[in-house]
Amino acid sequence: MSRPALARWLSQTNDVTQTFLAAGRIPGLINLAGGLPDPSVWPVDALAGYAQSAVADHPGDSLAYSPIDGLPGLRDVIAARFSRGDLKLGRENVMVTTGGMQALDLVGKVLLDQGDAIAAQSPAYLGALDAWMPRGPAYRPMRLDTNDVDIAGCMAGAKFAYTVPNFSNPSGRLVEADQRQELVAAAHDTGCWLVEDDPYGALYYDGDPLPRLLDLSAKGQGDGPYDGPVIYLGTLSKELAPGMRIGWVIAAPEMIVALTTAKQGSDMFTSGICQRMAQSALEDGLPEQVLPQIIDLYRARRDALCAAMAEHLGDLYDWDVPKGGMFVWAVAKDPRLNTDALMTRGLDHGVCISPSSVFDPEGKDHRATRLNFTLNPPEKLAEGVRRLAEATRAELASL
Ligand SMILES: Cc1ncc(COP(=O)(O)O)c(C=O)c1O
Repeated sequence: MSRPALARWLSQTNDVTQTFLAAGRIPGLINLAGGLPDPSVWPVDALAGYAQSAVADHPGDSLAYSPIDGLPGLRDVIAARFSRGDLKLGRENVMVTTGGMQALDLVGKVLLDQGDAIAAQSPAYLGALDAWMPRGPAYRPMRLDTNDVDIAGCMAGAKFAYTVPNFSNPSGRLVEADQRQELVAAAHDTGCWLVEDDPYGALYYDGDPLPRLLDLSAKGQGDGPYDGPVIYLGTLSKELAPGMRIGWVIAAPEMIVALTTAKQGSDMFTSGICQRMAQSALEDGLPEQVLPQIIDLYRARRDALCAAMAEHLGDLYDWDVPKGGMFVWAVAKDPRLNTDALMTRGLDHGVCISPSSVFDPEGKDHRATRLNFTLNPPEKLAEGVRRLAEATRAELASL
């Protein structure tokens, strides 16, 4: 007897994420594909103390069923951290999610009907594309690295716009200040929601942080709690540890209520132990204590990767040195290079990269690759780049 077929959207997924997660376990392979933090930056002792205290001192918060939208104390701490100037946040503006990833999933659940339009910064985060795939959205790509993008035109009639303004995954780019203003103005004018996904906002290695879309959208707002068009997504994954699975949404109260309804049918609530750990960590300013070391380490690794690229890849790819984040986006000079094929060939040469097709909602961009610099020490980054040069030359020679 044959079993019922799996849902149709599953046949549209790709197996690249599985390939690079599995690549981490191949001995000797250098993984430039993932987006993983270096485990040495996790504040293990501090987190162990918070975990112990969460259970021993706060069993009610940690071990009971929790409110769907998060522990009140954690929501208050997040509201206080982000409130400044015209941006006035109350608990009703904040909900806790199981990582930033769940927030992306919930946004899709509450806003998208089958075939609805999303104006998405292009290239776009693979996890977001995966989260929204079951709704079969129609994408309107916004190339924010060019000046001839019609932001308001893309957003008019779309359910939401999706952006990663700080060091986008995968492109590593900053959305510049004038385009941030334009995105916010277009959200006000068109009524389109504006999703600001910000896992890398604390990882600036050069220069001062640019204003968040959330802050810009609150300009001139009255005294009440924030009621603007931005849906801001934060996470502790890059500043503390991804295993905590603590993320949050900051948005207008009506959106928080809708997302909470969706979360009820998803995982009911985020682990109380992890929420209680996060509350203590934020109350004590743990991210501020560890960020200087993280930034120094990652800046040095970015410099090491880019120096090796200049030595080995200068005739093969173009790239910009990112001012923060975790990724360099390298575009092949030869338009014939297909980075899907390069990914497979790279494995034979002992290096794993991620191809651009998976970050393109239409799967058509085959010319670029995303290289991660946070996971490996400088010597390994240099050797990975040398292997990538070798694999690229072999691939081009085979065409
Ligand atoms: C742009 C972007 N959004 C969201 C996430 C999800 O992060 P997490 O679920 O670990 O908070 C990531 C993870 O790498 C990311 O790069």
